[in-house]
Amino acid sequence: TRGGPVIAVDGPAAAGKGTLARRLAEALHLPYLDTGLLYRAVGRLALDAGQDPASPAQEFASRLLPTDLERPDLRTPVVAQAASKVAAQPEVRAALVETQRRFAQEKGAVLDGRDIGTAIFPDADVKLFITASPSTRALRRFLQLGGDRNAPDAPTRIAELEESLRARDDADAGRASAPMLVADDAYVIETDELEADAVLAKALQIVRERLAGISE
Ligand code: CDP
Ligand code: CDP
Repeated sequence: TRGGPVIAVDGPAAAGKGTLARRLAEALHLPYLDTGLLYRAVGRLALDAGQDPASPAQEFASRLLPTDLERPDLRTPVVAQAASKVAAQPEVRAALVETQRRFAQEKGAVLDGRDIGTAIFPDADVKLFITASPSTRALRRFLQLGGDRNAPDAPTRIAELEESLRARDDADAGRASAPMLVADDAYVIETDELEADAVLAKALQIVRERLAGISE
């Protein structure tokens, strides 16, 4: 048995999973793990080694250190692409499973990623699937990366981001090993029309109802 509830937050790229998961964890006093960071760090190490991220990267996953997750250069689109390539390798995923499960063992946790509610914690207490249209997500990522909406090249850069998010979502949903998909018992939150505060309010309501129902 675990020392607290596990809340799974899954969904496509730049939907707002991390923003929500971090704030949920704060509100519920639970530890938070951004599991995408694990795959980004492995992708970064493969790139640093001069390796094509599609070639075997298991050794990087098995030797991952806490300091590898603190590097400032993990949030770039290039690293995201590399992350998606290493994440398609079953050996890489297998090397990271225990780290994720152990993280929640003592106190429970909020984790965000692609396969938390389907593969890592199929028995999670609450499963949320956060989504938005590709154009909304591309704009969110553009602004998050410091883009200026009024810059002359903004439309082109947003369109390029949308294309790369789409390609990554297709790869993540289409791979054989732990693909991104909506768990049968997940609550889907469609966020095109919702600010981050409204998403948090909705998620907290779902989580509190679910957790109250479980303890009855
Ligand atoms: O973790 P994920 O890639 O799903 O997304 P994120 O990094 O949490 O969020 C992407 C950006 O969207 C951040 O700059 C958020 O402030 C913004 N955002 C959001 O998270 N939720 C909304 N409902 C609206 C915007
Ligand atoms: O922030 P964003 O949603 O763009 O990406 P991320 O959550 O940091 O994940 C980067 C990549 O890691 C994804 O495109 C997936 O290929 C992979 N990933 C995964 O396979 N499983 C997870 N639980 C989390 C991330």
